[in-house]
Amino acid sequence: MNIAIIGAGYVGLVTGACFAELGVKVVCVDNDTDKIKALNKLKIPIYEPGLEDLIKRNFRQGRISFTSDIDRAVARSQVIFIAIGTPPKDNGEADLTGIEKVATAIARSMTDYRLIVEKSTVPVETGSWVKHTIEINKKKKVSFDVASNPEFLREGRAIHDFMHPDRIVLGVESKKAEQLLRELYGRIDGPILMTDIKSAELIKHASNSFLALKISYINAVAKVCELAGADIEQVAEGMGMDKRVGRAFLDAGIGFGGFCLPKDLDAFITISRKLGYDFGLLKEVKKINEFQKEDFIRRVESRLWNIKDKTIGVLGLAFKPDTDDMRFAPSIDIIQILQRHGAVIKAYDPKAASRAKKIFKGVKFCRNAYEAAKNSHCLIVLTEWQEFKELDFKKIKRLLKHPLIFDGRNMFSPEAMEGLGFKYVSVGR
Ligand SMILES: NC(=O)c1ccc[n+]([C@@H]2O[C@H](COP(=O)([O-])OP(=O)(O)OC[C@H]3O[C@@H](n4cnc5c(N)ncnc54)[C@H](O)[C@@H]3O)[C@@H](O)[C@H]2O)c1
Repeated sequence: MNIAIIGAGYVGLVTGACFAELGVKVVCVDNDTDKIKALNKLKIPIYEPGLEDLIKRNFRQGRISFTSDIDRAVARSQVIFIAIGTPPKDNGEADLTGIEKVATAIARSMTDYRLIVEKSTVPVETGSWVKHTIEINKKKKVSFDVASNPEFLREGRAIHDFMHPDRIVLGVESKKAEQLLRELYGRIDGPILMTDIKSAELIKHASNSFLALKISYINAVAKVCELAGADIEQVAEGMGMDKRVGRAFLDAGIGFGGFCLPKDLDAFITISRKLGYDFGLLKEVKKINEFQKEDFIRRVESRLWNIKDKTIGVLGLAFKPDTDDMRFAPSIDIIQILQRHGAVIKAYDPKAASRAKKIFKGVKFCRNAYEAAKNSHCLIVLTEWQEFKELDFKKIKRLLKHPLIFDGRNMFSPEAMEGLGFKYVSVGR
């Protein structure tokens, strides 16, 4: 089968590379011509474990190609996935102008039956708009179907998640669409849930908002733990042992970020409001997430007294470990607020530094954690990279001006840190 994937980002490249690996002929399309040029030279624009090898192998074997020419890609592909970004507008709504452009371009290039699949995260009813857009823009009298196939991969584990998903959600409205998608996804070992298109669209927003809710819930419980003198790690463990609750997403910290949870939460609040429901619960989830960052900064300030001219070493910038993705990372707000208060920031991230350099002004980027610690008044941990677990904390202590660590990700045991002579501040314990 020949397929096209429009949008060669985190989702598009992973989807393309994985389908190619499974024997499908894939063409990835992007309107960023520099990105396409780089991909054709096998320069992979993002860091995702395992992706580079997968793309290189399948490119050499002729199963994956890259182009900016959407017409050609549509002409040779029976199934076309849309995986472009759906960024938030100022009012929280998802910006769907790109989706409309792509749907229009597909419509104009269709010469025969095509199945157009929304893989981007889109508000419920987008499928109907895509269908309408194609209908009014198609040049030939050809039939087509629209389907919804939301993506649930996690950056940092994207290939594993794509190949071994908890579920594959396929929102369809014709037998032909179902058959084509079953043929494609039959190659993957995961349960398929067939739904209507609107339900598939809603599953994605409802799932991500629920995950955000879990994080904010545990963060609120962490605050109560702090006030009561309890330990959030023990509380989360006890809660998580109940299968109805589950341990995942019960890690207290400075809150969620990334390209999915914050914008999908906003979009879901907005969609619900437009449909006539005020989703107050989700507004609170958002409020708690903001509070986590403010509270963390307050704690840093309360220990350092005056922030002005103090040097703060930062460990971790990416919104989570094993990715270079900086989009909506909590580190952005935290560092920028500390800078506004006069702090001097020295930061280290194993993979996200080059993206972070485009965001921050006046931050000194370090080659490793020790350089970030050297002569700093304290160290703050903002991303839980595994390599931080293996640091030589005796050396860190010697390098810091004061043995003070604020751990926004609860990476270390308070006893071990205090045993090493640190003043160690974490979340909810
Ligand atoms: N990143 C994730 O972990 C993740 C997981 C699940 C779902 N999603 C959703 O998938 C979608 C894509 O996310 P992403 O992280 O891959 O985004 P991304 O920004 O990494 O990639 C999007 C790509 O689309 C390209 N693009 C934009 N407009 C285009 C157009 N008109 N024509 C051709 N190409 C165009 C961009 O140049 C970019 O390369 C979003 O809706 C997102 O919410 C993302």
